[in-house]
Amino acid sequence: MPASNLRLEYANLLAPHVEGGVDPERLQGDLSETFRRALAAVEERRGQGEMGFFDLPFASATVARVKELGEGFGQWFNDVVVLGIGGSGLGAIALRDALLGPYWNERSDDERDHFPRLHVVDNPDPFTFGRLLERLDPARTLFNVVSKSGSTAETMAQYLVARERVERVVGEDKARGHFLFTTDPGRGALRQIADAEGIPTLPVPENVGGRFSVLSPVGLLPAAICGVDIDALLAGAGDMETRCRAPELAANPAGVLAVLLHALDREAGRRIHVFMPYADRLRSSALWFQQLWAESLGKARDLAGTPVFTGPTPVASAGATDQHSLLQLLIEGPQDKVVLFVGLEDVGADMAIPRRHTEIASLSYLGGHTLGELLNAERRATAEALRRGGRPNATFMLPTLDARGMGELFMLLQVATVVAGALYGVDPLDQPGVELGKTLTYGLMGREGHSAPSIDEGDPRWVV
Ligand code: PA5
Repeated sequence: MPASNLRLEYANLLAPHVEGGVDPERLQGDLSETFRRALAAVEERRGQGEMGFFDLPFASATVARVKELGEGFGQWFNDVVVLGIGGSGLGAIALRDALLGPYWNERSDDERDHFPRLHVVDNPDPFTFGRLLERLDPARTLFNVVSKSGSTAETMAQYLVARERVERVVGEDKARGHFLFTTDPGRGALRQIADAEGIPTLPVPENVGGRFSVLSPVGLLPAAICGVDIDALLAGAGDMETRCRAPELAANPAGVLAVLLHALDREAGRRIHVFMPYADRLRSSALWFQQLWAESLGKARDLAGTPVFTGPTPVASAGATDQHSLLQLLIEGPQDKVVLFVGLEDVGADMAIPRRHTEIASLSYLGGHTLGELLNAERRATAEALRRGGRPNATFMLPTLDARGMGELFMLLQVATVVAGALYGVDPLDQPGVELGKTLTYGLMGREGHSAPSIDEGDPRWVV
């Protein structure tokens, strides 16, 4: 087994640790057989070239190109703006927050080691986008436009706005040097523009969908341009990919996760999955997971086309903050949830808690500990409180938060997603619901070939 940082602690998904948990003997019994079939289904689609995300850690030519462009652009520009939504934005945000840390954009050039500031705009809200553009010097800004399809209205509209702003300042000729497109290698409007104007591009491989693209140039370029060690990121992902090939369920972390969550959903009605990292730097990774899990598993039809209306509901959360928000519901509300914690043995940059007010018992016990110890104690106490209430939970444990560990976590969760897809009997790679929303938007905005949908039919009712 390759070296690994990440450990999945899952005792609290099992009986007798948690009331109503899965019988551990089943991991060697029926669930092992269920997993074997699911893994075979995944391997078959992978063999047919449909699951390109597995291969991303080993795409050395693409990685070399990412580094080359990242180094070049990183020296030229003070600000990098990623324009991308859904799977084309969330990975870059998760990587930025996890590996560049808080307040990156507020740090001085020296504090950033002269790497650029990184902004990821994943919503066409003119208020936010306008305020950002006002703050940037277009002459010193690179726009990385990320869209696999090259047609998503939100991203394309933002590209058009940005292009005009840049042209106004640097002129039409020089403007193209301020753009880098990450898109499908052969199709779409971005590809067409790039080919016509010589704008540099990076590929989103044909067999890699948006939410599985964090380890492709979609996530790698923004990370590399700011100095993230993408070799370590990919090495972690590559090692996890190997671990997740293990045919034996108990040795396969993605298998254990997918099989137990699926069994708890189907057999015990635990169909809400709360992802709760205990590190601020991982808050946006919870949003990344939420999109991955929701868009991949929430489906109206199974693979045979039969209506199923299935899929667990992921909820992005944050510890310890949400102990004072969601936790009451998690511990005493309906028995329909599983909580997935992420913990760090070393939270990093720890701070000692001073011994002050030692005469006050409600404060004196804190002095001499550290904030990191407190954060970890909160996580362990929460897991135990949930367990005592018969609430299943599991923990992804990392020694510390680094590029290698993030690669492992991303790969584990992606593999678990496609295994879960096979268990639920749905296609985790499509998103017909999202596509319908996109098409209706095109109609409302007057795109050629898309008639404006009637969306006010029926009996409108208002309360004023
Ligand atoms: O995961 C997905 O497939 C989606 O969330 C897409 O990433 C999102 O809709 C953006 O699509 P595109 O990259 O084509 O602009």
